[in-house]
Amino acid sequence: MSASSSTSPQPRRFNATGPLTGTIRVPGDKSISHRSLMLGALAVGETRVSGLLEGEDVLATAAAMRAMGATINREADGTWSIHGVGVGGLLQPAEPLDMGNSGTSTRLLMGLVASHAITATFVGDASLSKRPMGRVIEPLTMVGAEFDASEGGRLPLTLRGICPAVPITYRLPVASAQVKSAVLLAGLNTAGITTVIEPVPTRDHSERMLKGFGADLTVEEVDGERIITLRGEAELKPQTIVVPGDPSSAAFFVVAALIVPGSDVLIENVGLNPTRAGLFAVLRQMGGSIEEVNPREVGGEPVADLRVRHSALTGIAVDPELAPSMIDEFPVLFVAAALASGTTTTSGLDELRVKESDRLTAMAEALTGAGARVEEREDGLVIHGTGGSPLRGSANSRAKTHLDHRIAMSMAVAGMASEAGVLVDDIRPIATSFPNFIALMESLGA
Ligand code: S3P
Repeated sequence: MSASSSTSPQPRRFNATGPLTGTIRVPGDKSISHRSLMLGALAVGETRVSGLLEGEDVLATAAAMRAMGATINREADGTWSIHGVGVGGLLQPAEPLDMGNSGTSTRLLMGLVASHAITATFVGDASLSKRPMGRVIEPLTMVGAEFDASEGGRLPLTLRGICPAVPITYRLPVASAQVKSAVLLAGLNTAGITTVIEPVPTRDHSERMLKGFGADLTVEEVDGERIITLRGEAELKPQTIVVPGDPSSAAFFVVAALIVPGSDVLIENVGLNPTRAGLFAVLRQMGGSIEEVNPREVGGEPVADLRVRHSALTGIAVDPELAPSMIDEFPVLFVAAALASGTTTTSGLDELRVKESDRLTAMAEALTGAGARVEEREDGLVIHGTGGSPLRGSANSRAKTHLDHRIAMSMAVAGMASEAGVLVDDIRPIATSFPNFIALMESLGA
């Protein structure tokens, strides 16, 4: 059971801080960590993973893959060893799979189970149990799987997979890497060609890693759409994987350094896959000083160290086309916007309403409570910044995190640039993606 569901809420106040200085390294990428465990568990032989994110979400994936037959161990030096069962070899889990807070674990594993002749029940915490699963139930029903879901296509749900499954061609109705990945993972154990058509590109870690494991996968661009084809029943070859640092975790430190006067921080080993790096482009457009040092490749992904210095930020209209490449970074972008001069306008962000929380309402309420001027629209927020002065903060009222790690960390950063500090109502969810977030902030002087 995840910490967030097993203990009572843990409030914490985040106060104004002097300059943040020093060098840090953020934990491994969450998306890549989930996929390393899943594909390692389907390869024949031993996959070794270093830099795996050891947050609750990824540990939920590890536990589920063990429950379906893989052998997964953490060695003393932090390397993870995975002995896979082979494509088609997943076993029926004896107990319901506890997905905790993790939408990625749930949707990708539903894809894997769908093309095996096994039945699995998925359960999760209060946040995950509110999130829509219809977006994966629809394509996985087309491959032949059957579902007993809670009302509205939600968890808890039971999935009866099928083998042989039907190879499908599926055009994504929402820009979602999780839905894309669920269909591709179902296609792995399906004879024939599975095709996903992606009108708007989303993070491509599944495609990169499937190729890396030896799957026969192609990506073409036709009339601005990405067409991904996967030939099923491939044999996956075990890999040695180095997981780059998570840009979505680095984001909190980038914004903190930009808005706290005098800061100068080096964040090492940040993944800069173009399908993930939108925030850094937007912050530069706003005037942020973010320098890429020592660009290189780690585990087939572009990586660099980021040197970030305090900067005067100016509000902009954020191009909605960038949204998929920074979908998890909007909460912390809103914090940067609240400290900028002028107005920042965001739009096209309907998907933020179905993340770990409704991130538009949650951030509008939390930032307003801390003294920011925020207008909530149906598909985005409009934020009138302070021009660099600290936010008022709040002496007593609590910023509500709604079991959402990114709301908790974003409001922690807001507190660091406020007069009265910000009281975050519950910091437990931070452990889902970034267990050492507070320790790293403290190491920079916060
Ligand atoms: C993820 C995809 C995104 C993102 C999530 C991780 C993934 O979700 O928000 O944190 O690893 O595929 P959607 O596919 O729902 O946009």
